[in-house]
Amino acid sequence: MTPDLFEQGAERLASHQARVVNEVTSGDRSAGYGRVHEPGSLDLTHGRILYLEDVNVSFDGFKAINNLSLDIAPGELRCIIGPNGAGKTTMMDIITGKTKPDSGQVFFGSTINLLRHNEPEIAQLGIGRKFQKPTVFEHLSVFENLELALKTHKGVAASMFFRLNGTQRDRLSEVLHTIHLEDSVNAQAGNLSHGQKQWLEIGMLLMQDPKLLLLDEPVAGMTDFETERTAELFLTLKGKHSLMVVEHDMSFINTISDIVTVLCDGSVLAQGTLAQVQADERVIEVYLGR
Ligand SMILES: Nc1ncnc2c1ncn2[C@@H]1O[C@H](COP(=O)(O)OP(=O)(O)O)[C@@H](O)[C@H]1O
Ligand SMILES: [Mg+2]
Repeated sequence: MTPDLFEQGAERLASHQARVVNEVTSGDRSAGYGRVHEPGSLDLTHGRILYLEDVNVSFDGFKAINNLSLDIAPGELRCIIGPNGAGKTTMMDIITGKTKPDSGQVFFGSTINLLRHNEPEIAQLGIGRKFQKPTVFEHLSVFENLELALKTHKGVAASMFFRLNGTQRDRLSEVLHTIHLEDSVNAQAGNLSHGQKQWLEIGMLLMQDPKLLLLDEPVAGMTDFETERTAELFLTLKGKHSLMVVEHDMSFINTISDIVTVLCDGSVLAQGTLAQVQADERVIEVYLGR
């Protein structure tokens, strides 16, 4: 290759990379639908997909996160409980790059320092986040919402001519099946029940095949039936993905949990099986006994 051509190639590559980053705008919803560009790049040799050590965050002098250390194994479904204001949502903000900690370490696998990445980049690395409120596109169908979860990362010109390829169609069918919305594929998202909207949003995250899913109070406001269905859904996701689930619903936690971490005042108060933490005097005092 001549130096000229070489330079042009480098320029094209640089502008393509800049576009990829720019097209994924920052913010709650798009940040959650990250696309994994380098599926092989996560180093799990140390048996941890997520690793936090001595993380601290203060808001106007108030320590919301206080020497927080925690790690999660690949394929694990970790439940996080704790009183309001314990720092559960702030912890997710830190993992997803929404909030930068004052000190500490946050690693994705053994080698990816998440503190060096911004929100859209972290989503692209394979960390998907589900916020408390469902934020599906109400005027679009279930199918269109799922399709859009793939399109979002193609840029305007590309998305105008976007057609699902065979692999993506298969993925969409698989996700529809997983989230129990096969019968509602053409329904307008706005007409779904609250629980179905939550599942659809989880489905939109799944379209990106995230390695780690963060779910903040996913069953809040759901009926008992919807909560049971969601427990089943999470149990099917476990193993294929790593999950961090923040919830207050103890019977839901009981159904899905292996290890439960209790957060209080921005750090880990207790950790173990649900039965173990429920028997812990300190946990009863600050959270369960109220
Ligand atoms: N952006 C912020 N500015 C100021 N204070 C905040 C901010 N985010 C969270 N906090 C405070 O940090 C503490 C932890 O909040 P949060 O992480 O939402 O708790 P949880 O999700 O466990 O209920 C609370 O006292 C909350 O008021
Ligand atoms: Mg919260």
